[in-house]
Amino acid sequence: MKEIQLLKKTLHAVMNNYSVQENDKYRPVWHLSPVAGLLNDPNGFIQFNGQYHLFYQWNPLACDHSNKFWGHWSSADLVHWQHEPVALLPTEKFDIDGCFSGSAVNDDGQLVLVYTGNVMLGETEADRTAWQCIARQGEDGEFKKQPVIGQLEGYTGHIRDPKVWKENGLWYMVLAAQDLKKQGKVLLLESPDLENWTLKSEIAGSELKDTGPFGYMWECPDLFRLDGQDVLISCPQGVTAEERRYLNMYQCGYVLGQLDYSTGDYPHRPFLELDHGHEFYAPQTTLAADGRRLLIGWMGVPDQDEFSQPTLAYGWIHMMSCPRELRIKEGVLYQLPVKELEDLRSEHQHLIGSAETLPTFEVSSAELIISNTGDFEINISNTLRLTCDSTGITLTRKSLSSDVNEVRYWDQTVEKLQILIDHSSVEIFVNDGLGTLTSRYFPQDEKPVLSFSGPATLEVDYWVLKAAPLVKAC
Ligand code: FRU
Repeated sequence: MKEIQLLKKTLHAVMNNYSVQENDKYRPVWHLSPVAGLLNDPNGFIQFNGQYHLFYQWNPLACDHSNKFWGHWSSADLVHWQHEPVALLPTEKFDIDGCFSGSAVNDDGQLVLVYTGNVMLGETEADRTAWQCIARQGEDGEFKKQPVIGQLEGYTGHIRDPKVWKENGLWYMVLAAQDLKKQGKVLLLESPDLENWTLKSEIAGSELKDTGPFGYMWECPDLFRLDGQDVLISCPQGVTAEERRYLNMYQCGYVLGQLDYSTGDYPHRPFLELDHGHEFYAPQTTLAADGRRLLIGWMGVPDQDEFSQPTLAYGWIHMMSCPRELRIKEGVLYQLPVKELEDLRSEHQHLIGSAETLPTFEVSSAELIISNTGDFEINISNTLRLTCDSTGITLTRKSLSSDVNEVRYWDQTVEKLQILIDHSSVEIFVNDGLGTLTSRYFPQDEKPVLSFSGPATLEVDYWVLKAAPLVKAC
């Protein structure tokens, strides 16, 4: 019954939103965004039977963080996506307050989702419990839900976001948890069959081994092997801001180490930020059939001025990052847009000249690759300013809710920038992926323009990027 009510309301929300889409200058044309309502974390990213699948945290009923469903898109090439039927709805006792984040695995030819059932026990945020659940896909495409892990002893009700993978014939899960001293931890669990799980160890977290106080919750962990190392990505909440780092409301970063699967021990290096822009959170990775480690992140941060975003007027909020390929070089995680995105490149210009003399570029949907010698500044429609000088990058925008400037930094010498822009988002890849800065921005202009200034000589490649609408041929 609850399912039918939710679906009727969803249909209504989607119908209503059609009419406001036409004048919406902030809607991306080749990034994924929700047709209506609020989108947050990418979930269940997987390549299965030759198709990529991306599920996502979706509240179709309002632009707020209630009613979390799992929406679902699929794609053959990471560029052209199509809508799939909604995968999970919060309808059962064990997920009634939200089908929260999780992952997807291929269990011997069957697609299985692993997610958190959020259950509120009282009025306050702390008053909650969580079930870790699996949902096996049947012949009819439907996902059959089943809770497999209940409240864990020694932890509060903040336990969520299972990311599962297989290693040497066993299933492993990293899970975000909060211990009874309110320290954020990442747990490692093991299972022979996705149903019976044993807690093995705490692999990382606040006040664990060499890590000092570092937050009350490490959300959305992801662990994978890449270029000879085990990478643990997570999103710590409650980390104190410093002058030039940890400047977002919540952080997103990684530690590199070596996981000992028999003992559950994970000696690792210090935490590094994964992105240096204003909006990047809860990324999830998957291994593609061709061996690439791919990542998609949420271009949003919970509780960070979310509800001042002007897209609320158009009935939606937030979007995904572009799909990226990861590599590790010299102890640093590199990110670059996947090569498939080059498919979107159309009209092209190649220019060399001093920053002052270059023309302006229309950047509603555009890509630029810029090589520089010397200092320069980029201004996008007086809404976002990027300064490159001997300190590195300073990225500045005005707050949406006050008069302050919100400034982010990247502290190394810049030699090359690759910038992707899609109406209200900017993704900056520095020095072939060594650094990234991902931010939303909301220019007033119908057709935003990018201009250069400063003493540098620049070599610029510019492309208009085509739209990639979500359509399915009938
Ligand atoms: C991260 C997060 C997750 C949770 C989900 C709920 O943005 O808070 O920890 O599973 O969002 O939508």
